Amino acid sequence: MTATHLDLHMPPRLLAPAGTPADLATHEQRYGPLSYGDPAALLTTIAASGLTGRGGAAFPVHRKLTAVVEAARRTGRTPVVVANGAEGEPASRKDRTLLALSPHLVLDGLQVAARAVGAGEAHLAVEEGVSSVASAVAHRGDPVPVQVLRLPKRFLSGQASALAQFVGGAAALPAYQDPPVRERGVRRAPTLVQNVETLAHLALIARYGPDWFRSAGTPGQPGSALCTVHVPGRQPRVIEAPFGTPLHRVVPPHGMSAVLLGGYHGSWIPAAEAAQLSLEATTMGAGVLAALPADRCGLAETARVLRYLALQSAGQCGPCLNGLPRIAAAFQSLATPGPQGSTRTDVSRWSGLVEGRGACHHPDGTVRLVRSALTTFASELDAHARGLCTATDRTPLLPVPQET
Ligand SMILES: Cc1cc2nc3c(=O)[nH]c(=O)nc-3n(C[C@H](O)[C@H](O)[C@H](O)COP(=O)(O)O)c2cc1C
Ligand code: SF4
Repeated sequence: MTATHLDLHMPPRLLAPAGTPADLATHEQRYGPLSYGDPAALLTTIAASGLTGRGGAAFPVHRKLTAVVEAARRTGRTPVVVANGAEGEPASRKDRTLLALSPHLVLDGLQVAARAVGAGEAHLAVEEGVSSVASAVAHRGDPVPVQVLRLPKRFLSGQASALAQFVGGAAALPAYQDPPVRERGVRRAPTLVQNVETLAHLALIARYGPDWFRSAGTPGQPGSALCTVHVPGRQPRVIEAPFGTPLHRVVPPHGMSAVLLGGYHGSWIPAAEAAQLSLEATTMGAGVLAALPADRCGLAETARVLRYLALQSAGQCGPCLNGLPRIAAAFQSLATPGPQGSTRTDVSRWSGLVEGRGACHHPDGTVRLVRSALTTFASELDAHARGLCTATDRTPLLPVPQET
């Protein structure tokens, strides 16, 4: 994995400039001492920064922190904080790159979050195989001790309720979320789950303040974000870019037919349209940007990803158990040139039937991808119905774990 700095009028904030892992001494030298502040002042600072979550949903961080504090007050339970480094999305590399290069920034942020909500327990959950973080934890004398947990490699392991279950000793499977984990999570205690990148930003906001944070990005979407960029013929790269950066600077549109924005729960956008957009917290999900060259079949790529997503379902709810495999199979037939019958309308109808009906948002994210593919690749669908496919290269492009 390469961590690259594009010239985006902003020095990198989160990733070590030399691309080498920062030990504690280097980290402290680079960023200076961490000030924890008192919880009320921290909450005010975080609210003023406008920081949103970098795990996919772009939820305002101060609102989640405040909800945890209020739930703790109401229930008399001491909150738990969990750093989410699961990175279940197969096309994303940003969290493991951040943990490898700047683990102490994440651990600082975890302590800041613990302080802000008054937590008595802190956990760092990472995918199996991520090795460097335990020694980083061991080198620190954190006020709230941190437990490192290894999650099974699955798309769903990083979903907030699955994570809360896992920390509590059960399998990492999503649960019905009413009330949400921020009110009742790990062992029924109010639980703050925050993506590791979100925590790294928090560590810098606690040090340098909200105005510094807002000096990158736009007034509506302050700060920067890590993105994993897939461009054919190159290794995936992790870059750090301010919100508002034109997409064409990150993913050049030449020779491309479409861009996948936001990963496997994201959307396909025609390349010409994507070139007019900029990086937005609300559309970039967990920061995956993948370019589809004009000689590839977007329908075949989508069908591969859908098969994977259907297999990842925990099979606990009807929409996932029945709907996703049916949609994935039907999409596979759309990806195969030949008569389509009513399959196209069936896929649209079934998508409407699964949406909003799962215990977690897995069906919703999957349907988002399906709908965007039906729109963006509409002319390819017409060609396939006539028995033609314009793609000249059918080599699989997007990473799908079971295939590798
Ligand atoms: C199916 C599914 C998988 C998810 N996987 C991850 C993940 O791997 N890492 C992550 O940080 N968030 C993941 N999330 C989002 C989490 O549920 C949660 O919103 C997030 O960790 C909160 O952190 P943030 O507010 O800092 O983004 C997933 C959500 C869903 C619906
Ligand atoms: S919606 Fe799907 S993935 Fe989510 S809990 Fe239900 S079965 Fe599992």
